[in-house]
Amino acid sequence: MTIEPASLVDVERGHIKRSIFVDRGIYEQELEKIFARCWCYLAHESQIPNPGDFVSAYIGEDPVLVVRDSRGKINAFLNTCRHRGMRVCRADQGNAAAFTCTYHGWTYGNDGRLVGVPGYKEYYYEELDMEQWGLVPVVQVDSYKGLIFGTFDPQAPSLQEYLGDMTWYLEMFFDSGPEGLEILGGVHKWIIPCNWKFAADNFCGDNYHFPTTHVSAFKTGISSGSNRGGAPRRAFQISPGNGHGIIARLNTDIDERWSQERWPQVYSYLTGIAGEKEQRLGPRYKVIDPFVGTIFPNFSLIGSPSIRVWHPRGPDKIEVWSWCFVNKAAPKEVKDSMRLNVVRTFSPGGALEQDDGENWGECTASNMGTMARELPFNYQLGLGREQLNEDFPGRSMDGPTEMSQRGFYRRWSQLMAADSWREAESFS
Ligand code: FES
Ligand SMILES: [Fe+2]
Repeated sequence: MTIEPASLVDVERGHIKRSIFVDRGIYEQELEKIFARCWCYLAHESQIPNPGDFVSAYIGEDPVLVVRDSRGKINAFLNTCRHRGMRVCRADQGNAAAFTCTYHGWTYGNDGRLVGVPGYKEYYYEELDMEQWGLVPVVQVDSYKGLIFGTFDPQAPSLQEYLGDMTWYLEMFFDSGPEGLEILGGVHKWIIPCNWKFAADNFCGDNYHFPTTHVSAFKTGISSGSNRGGAPRRAFQISPGNGHGIIARLNTDIDERWSQERWPQVYSYLTGIAGEKEQRLGPRYKVIDPFVGTIFPNFSLIGSPSIRVWHPRGPDKIEVWSWCFVNKAAPKEVKDSMRLNVVRTFSPGGALEQDDGENWGECTASNMGTMARELPFNYQLGLGREQLNEDFPGRSMDGPTEMSQRGFYRRWSQLMAADSWREAESFS
């Protein structure tokens, strides 16, 4: 059955039907029309600096292997053996010249070619066409500021075009020093019993939930985004288009986020590089401070500092993969402090992460019912009040609003309705 997205998402009225968060048929259509089509985040270049380095990833429910081949080129492949579909690489990360499937032993080079088959002479009589049975490549792979993305759709626009005006904000996260960033340590993984859109939507623009959901955490002073014992500062929302969203503060200084009292090493490091950052980023550095965002569909970032992918695992389950990122050139104490902040705030054991995950799980469960799923959600916050700010790209709005979420679901329904990228583009 094909779903008619127009009957489910009415962003002009701020009505979004609850069934899109729980329905199995809609979920299956999302895997095809959203995940197999969009640019999805795979890995960071700093994780695979040397030939043969690899990391595991997913696009939707498809396992993907990201590997720098022996000549230094970054490739991504469906991580599934061409013989019976076993994952050819079951490690999170490592270095390998070749990957041998643990079922019957087919072996693939780190450039994806099938290079070894047990019994090739004796049982296949040298008739197996090895050229035809290599790993299946992710059709387009590209990087932006070290972030590697991939898409299975040959018609998808370029990554730069796909990110669009979002790059203006991403530079502030990912271009803060000439040496670039590195991912610190491994990956945190955990399961939340919720639909993937609750998480992506929350990071895309939910600056409304802070004072309610996180009130206890803020009172402890644990969050670098809050004043000790008080409410978080008012946040600004930006919708740069294509379904992406950013939450930012205006005119912040370092003291607000990493206070000298609590994080002395981070404070003096950030103070020391402020001039250089301003030179790189220009006047926006003093004007706007993006601290949470989502790149459509399921890649989010937060200034704790953490990046994460909300991998869909059915209509009512996600597997979160999350990493801490830091400036490569930062001193060890600064990296340690930032890692500690991530662990305390946004990680499986993080106070704010648990606040959020509990809400998303409960929201998913309470909408499974026959009656509840037929109702619409209210997405009318700030409807019709969006402004175009001359100082920075995209639509923006001061204070809590659901403008970016409406942009997210507008893009969602366009892609769900379209049979091709060309058709989806014509909507935007
Ligand atoms: S499934 Fe990989 S060799 Fe058979
Ligand atoms: Fe939150």
